[in-house]
Amino acid sequence: MDEVPHFRKADYPLMGVHADEWDGHIFLNLSERPEPLSAQLGSLMEKFRDWRMQHLRLGRRIVYDVKANWKLVIQNYNECLHCPNLHPALNKLSHYLSGENELLHPTYMGGRMDLRPGVDTLSWDGTCPRAVLPGLSADDRRRVYYYAIFPNMLLSLHPDYMMTHTLWPIAPGRTINVCEWHFQPSELARDGFDPSDCVDFWDMTNKQDWHVCELSQAGIGSPAYVPGPYSNREDLLYAFDRFIVNFHERGL
Ligand SMILES: [Fe+2]
Repeated sequence: MDEVPHFRKADYPLMGVHADEWDGHIFLNLSERPEPLSAQLGSLMEKFRDWRMQHLRLGRRIVYDVKANWKLVIQNYNECLHCPNLHPALNKLSHYLSGENELLHPTYMGGRMDLRPGVDTLSWDGTCPRAVLPGLSADDRRRVYYYAIFPNMLLSLHPDYMMTHTLWPIAPGRTINVCEWHFQPSELARDGFDPSDCVDFWDMTNKQDWHVCELSQAGIGSPAYVPGPYSNREDLLYAFDRFIVNFHERGL
């Protein structure tokens, strides 16, 4: 192209993408003029300040290939009526009706669940071999927060570690799901650091969830499928469905 008159390489750059950061999490926005991330996330940024997420470091990553639509993964993540039947080990550590949900926000939804008495974190046996994250209140040391940040981040905050899922829709019925566990650097630096107590616990629980997501995908794909009613514990799922419908109605 050097010989082409008036051609300037600078006129044809790679496409620019807006990027912003929240306590170590990097968000990309493909809009031409996006709102600042702080305006989009609002009070969520302050809500989880005490976890000091920007100081945590990756300890383990597992990539899942889920044969289900990404929205089913988000819906599954935001209700725990399935927990007693599907996740007996999880329900033993954290009662499925404990905690409470926050109302749906335009860019996120979530809630918390409480650890049962005597349980210190979500791990195989409920014990916590790691130091609790500094800065957490006594209440937050007894809770796990589960927040879906639209469109593709799931944030699970435990007393001693952070688990994130990043969802990458590959096809209407397929989602690559990158699950990562993050710990304090001082824990990672310890001799013999081994996070398998919580990683294996969640790997088992994740696989149980993906299995029912895949069953739901197969069922919804059937010509005989008819949507059922929401339960009164599925307020977030209803709100999320309305959010998606409104999004499409606005032609976005
Ligand atoms: Fe689940």
